[in-house]
Amino acid sequence: MHVAVFAFPFGCHALALINLVQKLARAAQETQFSFLNTEKSNNSIFSASITSLPDNIKTYNVADGVPQSHVFSGDPIERVELFIKETPKNFKMALETAVAVTGQEISCLIADAFLSFSGSIAESLSIPWIPVWIPVPHSLSTHIYTDMIRQHYANSLGYGCSNSCGDGHDVELEEKTLEIPGLSELHIADLPVEVLPRDAQETPFSCLLGQIGNMVQKADTLVLNFYQELYPEPLLIDLKSKFSNLLNVGFISLSMPPPSLPPSTEDTTGCLSWLDSQKSKTVAYISFGTVVNIPRSEMEELAEALEESRTPFLWSLRENVRDCLPNGFLERTTMHGKVVPWAPQTQVLAHSSTGVFMTHCGANSVYESIANGVPMICRPFFADNKLNARLVADVWRIGERIDGGVFTKTGVARSLDLILQHEQGRRIRSRVQAIKELVLKASAPGGHATQAFKTLVEKMTLV
Ligand SMILES: *[C@@H]1O[C@H](CO)[C@@H](O)[C@H](O)[C@H]1NC(C)=O
Repeated sequence: MHVAVFAFPFGCHALALINLVQKLARAAQETQFSFLNTEKSNNSIFSASITSLPDNIKTYNVADGVPQSHVFSGDPIERVELFIKETPKNFKMALETAVAVTGQEISCLIADAFLSFSGSIAESLSIPWIPVWIPVPHSLSTHIYTDMIRQHYANSLGYGCSNSCGDGHDVELEEKTLEIPGLSELHIADLPVEVLPRDAQETPFSCLLGQIGNMVQKADTLVLNFYQELYPEPLLIDLKSKFSNLLNVGFISLSMPPPSLPPSTEDTTGCLSWLDSQKSKTVAYISFGTVVNIPRSEMEELAEALEESRTPFLWSLRENVRDCLPNGFLERTTMHGKVVPWAPQTQVLAHSSTGVFMTHCGANSVYESIANGVPMICRPFFADNKLNARLVADVWRIGERIDGGVFTKTGVARSLDLILQHEQGRRIRSRVQAIKELVLKASAPGGHATQAFKTLVEKMTLV
């Protein structure tokens, strides 16, 4: 058996996928795994959290499509588009290498579902194709129903007409809920531009995502980075009607239950020992991942709110953006705050002093917060962030969206106060604790996620 795995080398996608593959490699030790990824992404997932792989996984480099001596514009999407232009040729070449190195033909293809062309590759090799959906399943449905969504809403939002239609943002309309199967909990405003381009042009990325909805439905088996227990019923029913095996294997990047914390002295970032010195559930942990750049004005508002409210905070902030902080902020807040260039996020969220997570709502951050029972304050930025923030704030009600969508001093202070001091915050915390218990149970022996994982191993090793 030789399983090839195609990674989408952006955001937290590749890290999530390698985590799944590690679990699979331990469950199917006779099976050889070839993990195909770009060199850049491979290097970053290994430096981030993975130190060594089981012997039956080997990694292979895939060309990233960046021409030699290319000058980047600074827009993160540029890398994605160069990479897309290079597909599927780059993966086909790496696949040939993997076959040559192992001397084994490929028996199954597991791929990030963003790489919709992988279905045709599996078909041409007459092997099973198992796509993996990394974001929340709601966002898969927005891609499956993209045509319907555009037909319903594009015209009324002014998308597709000339500049005379203004900026195409009808605020009232944007707040309407979607009349799309399984998605009634979402609002039009939650849809990313790739699904509803509004006044933006189609891009190679939106075209790629546009194909996913159609392609992915050709798969019998679909793996989701999610729990059956967390779906609204109509969405689960709708997706089950489209895939014979809808395998919700749980949060694939996380070990469930979360491992116990290492001794604080072993944490060289100093975060854990600092948290030890704080009171239970009082600290705001702040991190917006590695891609997001917060506008300077918002950084200032956020910093001022932290300073004035004297909320204990741990802020993971890259060195190169620190000069956006107000003058003297770091010195004035040393008594109740700590700013670090990088924090061991999973462990910080697992620490008993952490009371709230201020996040951009990338799926992985939301999942880590849930797995540790920590309420969130959401400041969504791009891609699926808004959709995730909707689930957190209004559907699961395990956090708050920041007032007006951007950081203001009063908005931040209000949210912090609500979550950390008020009865409403206590209710939010008990709901997130309840969801944590639900996912722990699903991940335990006999739980739904455990069963789904077993089925995946069977499908993958079927000849
Ligand atoms: C991926 O990264 C790891 C760690 O840096 C390295 O050992 C491995 O050789 C890399 N794989 C490829 C194909 O470059």
